[in-house]
Amino acid sequence: MLDQVKDLHRELENVQVSTQEELESFRLRFISRKGVISELFQGLKDADPGERKELGRTLNQLKNQAQDKFQELIKSLEQQAPVVSAPEVDLTLPPGGTGLGSVHPLSAIWERVVEIFGRLGFNVSDGPEIEDDWHNFTALNFPPNHPAREMQDTFFIEKDPDIALRTHTSNVQIRVMEHKKPPIRTLSPGRVFRNEAISARAHCIFHQYEILYVDENVGFKDLKQTLFHFAKEMFGKEVKIRFRPSYFPFTEPSAEIDISCLICKGEGCNICKYTGWVEIGGSGMVDPNVLENCGIDSQKYTGYAAGLGIERTAMLKYQINDLRLFTQNDIRFLKQFASLGF
Ligand code: DAH
Repeated sequence: MLDQVKDLHRELENVQVSTQEELESFRLRFISRKGVISELFQGLKDADPGERKELGRTLNQLKNQAQDKFQELIKSLEQQAPVVSAPEVDLTLPPGGTGLGSVHPLSAIWERVVEIFGRLGFNVSDGPEIEDDWHNFTALNFPPNHPAREMQDTFFIEKDPDIALRTHTSNVQIRVMEHKKPPIRTLSPGRVFRNEAISARAHCIFHQYEILYVDENVGFKDLKQTLFHFAKEMFGKEVKIRFRPSYFPFTEPSAEIDISCLICKGEGCNICKYTGWVEIGGSGMVDPNVLENCGIDSQKYTGYAAGLGIERTAMLKYQINDLRLFTQNDIRFLKQFASLGF
């Protein structure tokens, strides 16, 4: 036991602490009631009676030494405490922003489109971005090798000429009509792909929203009325809309939809090509061949369809004159839409 006391004595002499944790470990080891010194005191009763007195004395010395050392360590730690200097931050300033993100303008338009058509009874349907020839072309009345296929510069999947990235959201029309019988009233927003050079007005990846309404007695007047209503809801009461006769294989008759240019207010700019009008999509009465391709009786049912561009819509609504801004992820651009909510 005497040897143990000697060792502890030496250990005590050399202890240094630099943190509160180390001080606490010291206390637990030497001072506390479960510490080594208390343990030795308890062992005293088993010691040789001749040595007990001497041992008790040395143990008491050790205990006092530990107490003194403890006080000494407390003091040294206090002296080590860093001098509190003036804070580097000005605590009186109001807190900074929370750094929340903002809604992307294309997402905002997407949601608004869903909302406007949703109130007219259109549900939302989705389809694949990698599509087969039937759904992207053939069922939509593009005959094989028909020049109309070249209207859309398609990205084909190299290994299989039957598979391509969809060039429009019209593929969803076919997918819906194959599975559901009229009345059908559906909206399909989505991403589309075309092999086009990127410029202020065009991109190889962009977004469209397609509407399709098939029922008995659906006429062109219904299409016009729906798009008039949509344009006013989306762009405001002052907007003008016009239909221009056009051609699409899947509609007959067909019309392109123009909106009065809200970027230059008709004065002429690069987006309206100085005409005062911007084309935002195509439309028409669903060609009877398309209905029949999907197993719908074209004698009984008629329908209208339209496909519009989300980027075009956003450009007009927010007066953006370069489509590339949507995908550049420039914080200064995106921040301007911070007030948009869903
Ligand atoms: N799919 C056509 C395109 O991307 C747009 C379009 C035109 C969709 C007429 C339609 C429609 O539903 O009826 O160029």
